[in-house]
Amino acid sequence: MNTDILKKTAKQIVASGKGIIAADESNPTCQKRFDAVGVACTEENRRAYRDMLLTTEGLEHYVSGVILYDETIRQRSSTGERFPDVLTKKGMLPGIKVDIGAKDLALHSGEKVTEGLDGLRERLAEYKKTYGAMFAKWRAVITIGDGIPTDACIHANAHAMARYAALCQEVDIVPIVEPEVLIDGNHMIEACYEATEKTLKKTFEELAGQDVILEGTILKASMVIAGKKAAKQSSVEEVARETVRCLKASVPSDLAGVVFLSGGQGDEQATANLNEMNKLEGVPWPLSFSYARAIQNPALKIWAADTKGNIGKAQEALLFRSKMNSLATMGKYSDDMEKRRTY
Ligand code: 13P
Repeated sequence: MNTDILKKTAKQIVASGKGIIAADESNPTCQKRFDAVGVACTEENRRAYRDMLLTTEGLEHYVSGVILYDETIRQRSSTGERFPDVLTKKGMLPGIKVDIGAKDLALHSGEKVTEGLDGLRERLAEYKKTYGAMFAKWRAVITIGDGIPTDACIHANAHAMARYAALCQEVDIVPIVEPEVLIDGNHMIEACYEATEKTLKKTFEELAGQDVILEGTILKASMVIAGKKAAKQSSVEEVARETVRCLKASVPSDLAGVVFLSGGQGDEQATANLNEMNKLEGVPWPLSFSYARAIQNPALKIWAADTKGNIGKAQEALLFRSKMNSLATMGKYSDDMEKRRTY
């Protein structure tokens, strides 16, 4: 393990004004996204879609890295270049999703545990050596409901994340640790706060237990927010205040940075919430984005309408949302900027 490399990569991921695009949808998730816009989820369409995203000119001004899926890291752009090389050439870091998905947790109805530790050392070695992966991602899923999340679910997931993070750092790959508390349900923001705090505290306890270096680790967090079906939806100010309060209560200050997932929030809502957090004083970590849906959605819709003719327009939409989120990492976004969009 080379801590200097880990620290340098982690800093690069959360460099000022930059964040991550999560383009690491597994094939089943990609199928859902493509079904919604009427595109067949073939290997070639997945490649063509990722090609559109990754070859967007100027993306590197707002985006430090892109998380890829196993299939994508092995694919090539229409110009014949491997996707991770397309990114590296433009100064963006290639990342890789390495978990193999959330499975039902035995004896715990309604709860999940993420798998993928078996053979992970060998897979990481290949991603690094053959494809130049600089960082990785592992997503755990925590559900809020009647009597859940249980301590057993939080513990199982936190322990797996710590084992994953240690394996990454062993080969100088920065681990992105993502315990996602789902936005699904009708719970109030207080319930989300409680579940998130418990999850984060346990996660950092387990990371410490495996000697993971926090200066070489990124947390991918869900925001503290009321459930999607809650009677009272959270305001931007509430989300910002409660999320930062929860992070301060649970996350050590030497962590390299926090990036957020969008989790089903609207595109503009995710940008506005991040922006509001970055207006708050005294936050010890850079707060940035690692959105999939909230950054890709407009581009996906435009591309889907004409997968050959609309590439330029779709890229314009991706670049616009990337720029808005970049401004949000500095607290410099305002919703009237949305009027300037051309999509
Ligand atoms: P969303 O931003 O669509 O929630 O996806 C982020 C992600 O990478 C989930 O693992």
